[in-house]
Amino acid sequence: MTAQIIDGKAFAADVRAKVATQVARLKEEHGITPGLAVVLVGEDPASQVYVRSKGKQTVEVGMNSYEHRLDADTSEADLLALIDQLNTDPAVHGILVQLPLPGHLNEDLVINAIDPAKDVDGFHISNVGLLGTGQKSMVPCTPLSCLMMLRAHHGSLSGLDAVVIGRSNIVGKPMAQLLLGDSCTVTIAHSRTKNLPDVVRRADIVVAAVGRPEMVPGDWIKEGATVIDVGINRIEKPEGGTRLVGDVDFASASLRAGAITPVPGGVGPMTIACLLANTLTACCRANGLAEPEGLTA
Ligand code: GUN
Repeated sequence: MTAQIIDGKAFAADVRAKVATQVARLKEEHGITPGLAVVLVGEDPASQVYVRSKGKQTVEVGMNSYEHRLDADTSEADLLALIDQLNTDPAVHGILVQLPLPGHLNEDLVINAIDPAKDVDGFHISNVGLLGTGQKSMVPCTPLSCLMMLRAHHGSLSGLDAVVIGRSNIVGKPMAQLLLGDSCTVTIAHSRTKNLPDVVRRADIVVAAVGRPEMVPGDWIKEGATVIDVGINRIEKPEGGTRLVGDVDFASASLRAGAITPVPGGVGPMTIACLLANTLTACCRANGLAEPEGLTA
């Protein structure tokens, strides 16, 4: 079997188009423009690239983008004061504090200072608890991206065996909660899992989110399974230079999977699209309006 390629770029374009349509409707019918505030502390080059891309895409779908760039030595008190101000600003519906933060800032404290209703990353402890108990929450963008692609490919996920490789708070754990919410039988595998190849071989759905280049070989993949590769790893090419690869060995896995996300061009492009979807959702909730269909968990 040669797998169907799940095109994350096309998918993301579709999500952005849906968001843009809803944003235009909000403006026309209610005079409301969703606003996303992004806070960047310091000058981490990768974070700067992400923040620029988020700002650009926010404006492209018709939302307001508010960027706050703070010096690397900003005090915790000053950062918390800014978050407080954004929490009470009615023009701001979503707040994202770009991670990682410089070492002197307590990330948990900062994230939990964000109003949970504006926490478009879904990292606030209240949102974690709401998701874990199957209640309405803000859902982290990467697992939401994976869920949207899985639903689009399968329709119903009910009763499918899903293995999530990786137990991070940002991807692995919320991914498992979302799959459970869609009635999958879920296993969370990690570095101490015994017999990982056999665990993965049982899965109808494999979500790989460990950050280890090409660690899942094709012969771990059940024939016809759906493979979602969250990994983005830069490796050296034998001939010099570098390239991006996922956590799954794409060449061998695509000969056995029914469908697979490539790296790059799979989950990656979807994450900012889902951030915009979350901002729209937060704006609708804040204004007592119906949530956009197909853009939430
Ligand atoms: N840094 C890298 N990815 C993310 C993300 O999804 N959210 C935040 N807040 N910071 C990040």
